[in-house]
Amino acid sequence: MSLGEETMLLLFVVVVSFSLASSVGQTEPVEDSWYVAAVYEHNVILSPEPRGPSSRAAALRHMQSNLDIYEQQAARAALQGAQILVFPEDGLHGFNFSRSSISGYLETIPDPQQESWNPCTEPGKHNNTEVLQRLSCMARRHGLYLVANMADLQPCPLNTAPSSCPSDGRWQFNTNVVFRSDGQLVARYHKQNLYFEEAFDTPPQPEIITFDTPFAGRFGLIICFDILFHTPTVTLLQKRVRQLIFPTAWMNQLPLLDAIQFQRAFSLGANITLLAANIRSDRLIMTGSGIYTPTSATYHHAQKGDPEEGRLLVARVPVLDPLWVGQSVPMEEGAVWEECHKESCSAPPETVSSALPSSATFVSSMMYDSFTFVLLNETEGVLNVCDGTFCCHLQYQRLPPGDSTELYALGAFAGTHTVNGRYALQVCALVRCAGLEVSSCGQEVEEATSKMDFLLEGTFGTRYVYPSVLVNKLVLEQPERLETAADGRVTMKHSTMTDGLVTAVLYGRMYHLDNE
Ligand SMILES: *[C@@H]1O[C@H](CO)[C@@H](O)[C@H](O)[C@H]1NC(C)=O
Ligand SMILES: *[C@@H]1O[C@H](CO)[C@@H](O)[C@H](O)[C@H]1NC(C)=O
Ligand SMILES: *[C@@H]1O[C@H](CO)[C@@H](O)[C@H](O)[C@H]1NC(C)=O
Ligand SMILES: *[C@@H]1O[C@H](CO)[C@@H](O)[C@H](O)[C@H]1NC(C)=O
Repeated sequence: MSLGEETMLLLFVVVVSFSLASSVGQTEPVEDSWYVAAVYEHNVILSPEPRGPSSRAAALRHMQSNLDIYEQQAARAALQGAQILVFPEDGLHGFNFSRSSISGYLETIPDPQQESWNPCTEPGKHNNTEVLQRLSCMARRHGLYLVANMADLQPCPLNTAPSSCPSDGRWQFNTNVVFRSDGQLVARYHKQNLYFEEAFDTPPQPEIITFDTPFAGRFGLIICFDILFHTPTVTLLQKRVRQLIFPTAWMNQLPLLDAIQFQRAFSLGANITLLAANIRSDRLIMTGSGIYTPTSATYHHAQKGDPEEGRLLVARVPVLDPLWVGQSVPMEEGAVWEECHKESCSAPPETVSSALPSSATFVSSMMYDSFTFVLLNETEGVLNVCDGTFCCHLQYQRLPPGDSTELYALGAFAGTHTVNGRYALQVCALVRCAGLEVSSCGQEVEEATSKMDFLLEGTFGTRYVYPSVLVNKLVLEQPERLETAADGRVTMKHSTMTDGLVTAVLYGRMYHLDNE
């Protein structure tokens, strides 16, 4: 027997002010305009010696080998009608350079807001721009918008104080470049949130960069780790940008931050389209790319033992830009992404959930944070678990057949994550434990056989809550129902799972507490 509709209705007592993604998967988007997007997961050819000195000639030879693959994929994408194609972060140069060893890979990328330049048709205008020229000609030859990531060198003034100019008189930036379908360079974005990248500098001012297309209106640019932070990602959302481009080199980490899991979660939670292109590398645990809209996901996640190769994804997706010609702009839409006012959404939850007695809890580390857990030790039940005043609530029913010895736990965490990055969180997570010991709850596991109908709920001190459901062997499921109430309560209900549950998460980002 599955958790009946009547039961669900009785238990489902939330005041719904708006729904995060109503009727997910059932309705066609209201927009009647579409475009074709492509992302390429690239098995980057790495430099054999990233830390040794590299001449410009050797660096170019190396990058041309990756550009040859980009060229083939651009041709394939164009054949399938793609109007925009996204390549991953670090896809041309690779990883692990020092500030000096990357020098042969750098080109000085002119600011498209200051000058208009088509590197393909005006190659003589700037020296030392072979990579820009080749990318520009690729966009032009195949008649599509092309987004790639490369390394930018900008000279900076040493003797003006105060200055963020490094002592060698140059900034080196991890950079997205965008070419129009005629080859014109139309956007340049410097990564704000670096992740152990000693070759690169943080830009002196955060950059909020968008570009406009004739087929889908406006897109915003972010890179990898940026997706976890307010600047520039939420700043773009607040400017009503609803289509984000996301080149990444993302190391997978279950149970909370697998690449496709967070890509899906972010697109759903922010109600936007995300074009995500990741690197494919077994050694670096990188795979997982996709084209996500609030109602659809076209994605790829390599499995253990798969050949280490690239993957082109192409999908027809709705135009979401509200400012685009011909689209109406509902006035309420922006309101969802207003800053969280502390009075209205950090109030301690005094909900029915937290008043109920908790079962025996235990603490276990999940991705370096101490989660408070409670086990699901029945075939069905109602559980609550709190970390301080932040509480998570679960109604569940395990469905046969499934391995009844598989251990599941509900975890809550409220606090600041401080390992490999600092960010404040409130998380409710239903996880399959990796083994049969409670200490294995929170550890990585990719497989499961136990299907479950569930309702997961928390009252969050932020509007920014990213929901995900991941089943056996890294398959994404679209949550059946997602609702957010005015008091910050977020409810995710799911049933008729296609395979065993690996993890279901409500990942709340408390951006306003990051610097406290
Ligand atoms: C998501 O965006 C669509 C328009 O694309 C809008 O109709 C819907 O109300 C939005 N959902 C939320 C929860 O804001
Ligand atoms: C980067 O270089 C260091 C030192 O040579 C090495 O230990 C590490 O494994 C390298 N990492 C990658 C991702 O190549
Ligand atoms: C390019 O380099 C050559 C040789 O160093 C120099 O003569 C020329 O002025 C440079 N052109 C530009 C546009 O900087
Ligand atoms: C497991 O179930 C028993 C009752 O059958 C209960 O007393 C116990 O607290 C539960 N354990 C946990 C960790 O929830």
